Amino acid sequence: MPVITCIEDLKRLHQKRTPKMFWDYCESGSYTEQTFRENSSDFAKLRFRQRVARDLTGRVLSSTMAGQKVTMPVALAPVGSTGMQHPDGEIHAARAAAKFGVPFTLSTMSICSIEDVAAHSPEPFWFQLYVMKDEDFVDAIIERARAAKCSALVLTLDLQILGQRHKDLKNGLTSPPKPTIPNLINIATKPRWAWNMARTPRRQFRNIVGHVKGVQKLSDLTAWANEQFDPMLDWGKVARIRDQWKGKFILKGVLDADDARMAADAGADAVIVSNHGGRQLDGALSSIRMLPSVVKAIGDRTEVWLDSGIRSGQDVLKALAMGAKGTMIGRAYIHGLGAMGEAGVTKALEVIQKEMDITMALCGEREVTAMGRHNLLVPEDFEGRWA
Ligand code: GLV
Repeated sequence: MPVITCIEDLKRLHQKRTPKMFWDYCESGSYTEQTFRENSSDFAKLRFRQRVARDLTGRVLSSTMAGQKVTMPVALAPVGSTGMQHPDGEIHAARAAAKFGVPFTLSTMSICSIEDVAAHSPEPFWFQLYVMKDEDFVDAIIERARAAKCSALVLTLDLQILGQRHKDLKNGLTSPPKPTIPNLINIATKPRWAWNMARTPRRQFRNIVGHVKGVQKLSDLTAWANEQFDPMLDWGKVARIRDQWKGKFILKGVLDADDARMAADAGADAVIVSNHGGRQLDGALSSIRMLPSVVKAIGDRTEVWLDSGIRSGQDVLKALAMGAKGTMIGRAYIHGLGAMGEAGVTKALEVIQKEMDITMALCGEREVTAMGRHNLLVPEDFEGRWA
């Protein structure tokens, strides 16, 4: 067993152990993948200020996100088809998050259903909603999330139209994979995945199958999104969903100050600056670059969080120092899941926690909530001048 010291180690194992089509699904951005790449490379442009001769005893990483206590301000982002990265993946990830003390967000397009995850998770989790054309389905799934005691609703705003990821089309991505010769040959090289997948009944989008009239089978996320996701989602519908849910309400996928103001007006308890991990609008600027403008627009009215591009504790600290109150990680924990199931998600969280602790200390800070612009060296043109 290799010694795992960073997310990159988990990423290598994830690639080795997971069928190619799901690895590619995780590791893709849309079109040229410019935004996908820049989400991470822009973090590298920010540098820390090293401060010395400070009392560094009793360091604290815990904080709150939307009023919820967290071991560190890092929530697990909703990721579609997580149960294909590792059999029963959503249950593994929810358990690891609950034990660690950070929120887990279940995607509408998960393999394990809301009820199933609730039955297996020791703590309440958050539920992410995609708005479908079928209003009865939306009403029912909000009710199901409430019945399962989900402690926040995360409404995604940036994926009513699905971005194109070339590899998914070339691979013929479906959950479960079709038994074609290339798929069978590839799966034969992933015996652990195949063995566990054969033993679980959770192989389809189980929030949908059996819950939507006439849908007995659903394997193609792209086709479903194209047919069923509601392209008419607007701020009126957002307000309607907000009124229906009543609990903590988080809006995900905002990259622009004008949209951020609308999101704050809609009564969001938190707004997540995100470009969906570079999977949607290719050519958009990175989340970390857009963060300051959103914080400036609404930071005094609601919590601003960031996702897209975080692969380390250092990235988390940079986001916090640039004004985010919390963060979400997607691929960083999926690499752990694909590598080693629940233990791998725990490992990913531990890696990030340790990186945060050491880096915060070397910046001369004892409390994560004290991280700010004073801890960073930011290139003058970081945000850029865009007309
Ligand atoms: C779904 O959320 C996706 O990005 O594929």
